[in-house]
Amino acid sequence: MSTSYDDLLARLPAQPQTWLVTGVAGFIGSNLLETLLKLDQTVVGLDNFATGHRHNLDQVNALVTPAQWARFRFIEGDIRAPGDCQRACAGVDIVLHQAALGSVPRSIEDPRTTNAVNIDGFLNMLVAARDQGVGRFVYAASSSTYGDHPGLPKQEDIIGKPLSPYAVTKYVNELYADVFARTYGLSSIGLRYFNVFGPRQDPNGAYAAVIPKWTAALLTGAEVFINGDGETSRDFCYIDNSVQANLLAATVADPTAINQVYNVAVGERTTLNALFEAIRDALAPRFPHLRDVQPSYRDFRPGDVRHSLANIEKARTRLGYAPSHRLSDGLAEAMDWYVEDMGGPHAR
Ligand SMILES: NC(=O)c1ccc[n+]([C@@H]2O[C@H](COP(=O)([O-])OP(=O)(O)OC[C@H]3O[C@@H](n4cnc5c(N)ncnc54)[C@H](O)[C@@H]3O)[C@@H](O)[C@H]2O)c1
Repeated sequence: MSTSYDDLLARLPAQPQTWLVTGVAGFIGSNLLETLLKLDQTVVGLDNFATGHRHNLDQVNALVTPAQWARFRFIEGDIRAPGDCQRACAGVDIVLHQAALGSVPRSIEDPRTTNAVNIDGFLNMLVAARDQGVGRFVYAASSSTYGDHPGLPKQEDIIGKPLSPYAVTKYVNELYADVFARTYGLSSIGLRYFNVFGPRQDPNGAYAAVIPKWTAALLTGAEVFINGDGETSRDFCYIDNSVQANLLAATVADPTAINQVYNVAVGERTTLNALFEAIRDALAPRFPHLRDVQPSYRDFRPGDVRHSLANIEKARTRLGYAPSHRLSDGLAEAMDWYVEDMGGPHAR
């Protein structure tokens, strides 16, 4: 049976549009770029390389045809600079706004920079999208907005108090997008991502996400640390699901679907202990010495929510979202990439 997304993928090449992807050199942004170029779309990219990398753009270049790559224009710029945002939005039909400083611990250590990028930068992007007459503004929201609310699964309209400066910024994004819809008629959709993972997610640095961090540690023989008792749980979402949600949100016509926020996840919960085993099992056929590796446990991390699980009915019914990958499907694809990208030469 063909899905709404299959129909969209079949339709888009004949209906080329101009898209702006902010944060295009990052993990999610570079995956959006790859999909859009493969669909023969015209893409403008904006990034300041704060956490993104040129090699992500190079990798996309290698995965598309020269004609497709020629439809990409990169602007090195900062969303904290209003002029850069205006320049990037000029002539654009659809914005997929991904640029932000991610990571709860980073925001706890440096709340001012996270605030400047994630709130001031976000506002600059909204103003630029409004001024340049952008048709749809899709933005990266976050499951961190559920904060201290204990209810599971998470439903879009029931949130708690934010547990970190990062969570504050992502919630403020939703408030601003809503106000811009009401006051200026800007058509927007917020996507509350739940722990996205996949190729090109950065395994390095103090603020790396758990899947690339543990994979890199296993492949290089470093210790794997679990923060807390390992029974903390998350709804891990493969990148293809997030890309799907972006394209559906960018093109949905139903007025009741617009100016809304949506959970983007799979709707399945995995503990960190189970995740460790799943990553180890996914690598073990190629690296048998990993079969017996055990993680080390250390303190819980401040600001982290204990459990996270999405109800994805709203995205399913209003956007036609149907996740294509569960955790194990996504891990299999992501492990291939990590092994090829950094595993081979470093693995013991
Ligand atoms: N990965 C996840 O699990 C997850 C979960 C929830 C929300 N998000 C959100 O999704 C978006 C993308 O996250 P990601 O995982 O791809 O992270 P990422 O760090 O790989 O990508 C973010 C990109 O934004 C760029 N950027 C940062 N500050 C900028 C600035 N001032 N001007 C221009 N560009 C700037 C970075 O250089 C980077 O390329 C972010 O908004 C993040 O908050 C991600």
